Amino acid sequence: MSNDIVLVGAGCMGAALLPGLFKGFQKSRILVVDTSPLRREKVAAMGVDVASAIDNIDGGATVVLALPPNSFSGFASSTLALKGHAGLVISVMAGVRIATIKHALQICNVVRAIPNTPAETLKSMTVFCAATSVSLLCLEFAERVLSLFGEAIRVESENLMDPATAICGGGPAYISYFAECMRCFAVEQGFNDDESALIVAQVLCGTGSLLSVGDRRPMQLCRDVMTPGGTTARAVEVLDRNNFKEVVGDALLKATIHSRSLGCMVEEAENERSHR
Ligand SMILES: NC(=O)c1ccc[n+]([C@@H]2O[C@H](COP(=O)([O-])OP(=O)(O)OC[C@H]3O[C@@H](n4cnc5c(N)ncnc54)[C@H](OP(=O)(O)O)[C@@H]3O)[C@@H](O)[C@H]2O)c1
Repeated sequence: MSNDIVLVGAGCMGAALLPGLFKGFQKSRILVVDTSPLRREKVAAMGVDVASAIDNIDGGATVVLALPPNSFSGFASSTLALKGHAGLVISVMAGVRIATIKHALQICNVVRAIPNTPAETLKSMTVFCAATSVSLLCLEFAERVLSLFGEAIRVESENLMDPATAICGGGPAYISYFAECMRCFAVEQGFNDDESALIVAQVLCGTGSLLSVGDRRPMQLCRDVMTPGGTTARAVEVLDRNNFKEVVGDALLKATIHSRSLGCMVEEAENERSHR
């Protein structure tokens, strides 16, 4: 195989990375590897080469691992072509630690990243962290690749990757959950389905655009809308009374802890495999 990019896993996250990859690489230089025939069929329809496994790989190819964390150990043990790979390996798997990937594949150039599904519209928020063994060249290249999907920031401490998984990776789900609550209310109040969906989408989109310009923090935007004693203040009082902030904090903490334990589970599976 002679490819610049090999994407392993074209599920919800992997497929969302494709528009960004198409922006940065020729389609003819991308290979998508997925065990699901249905996913392969979908990707092949976009004019991209597909395969069910990596048989051999160019030393300089960049590999993006977007397969489920619990499939990683099996993938690593069965993908001999990737052992000792010299090129960059970017993992977007939740929880799986850099050391585990380095050990399983016997490689140095590993970057752990957490993008999110808005990558599909080139609006991902990606947080990434690099192994200390990553060459400067690979690091710069990784930043360029991850920036194809939207915004990308690098953190030094890998400990931040679990909260990043909770906040960035899962973020679109919580926001959509909140949006669904607002949409249901709109429908209950008499807006039709289309109107309700448009109202909520535009409110989120407009608020997102305000949050992304200048240096206004969310609470300032909240106060700008919340005239004291006015209608919005009544709603926010209810959220405060019901400890909304604590509820959100608890939810994010649960997701963070799960990301950490996923990392431990994959490491254990990998240790067991290598001692067999
Ligand atoms: N979804 C998100 O928003 C999000 C955000 C950040 C990070 N992530 C991470 O991204 C990864 C993928 O998540 P996802 O939501 O896209 O999962 P998904 O929708 O289940 O897609 C995973 C894909 O990988 C395939 N696969 C499984 N084992 C494989 C192997 N050994 N070789 C090649 N392909 C394989 C699966 O095929 P089968 O159906 O045949 O198993 C499936 O098509 C996970 O590690 C997740 O933690 C996800």
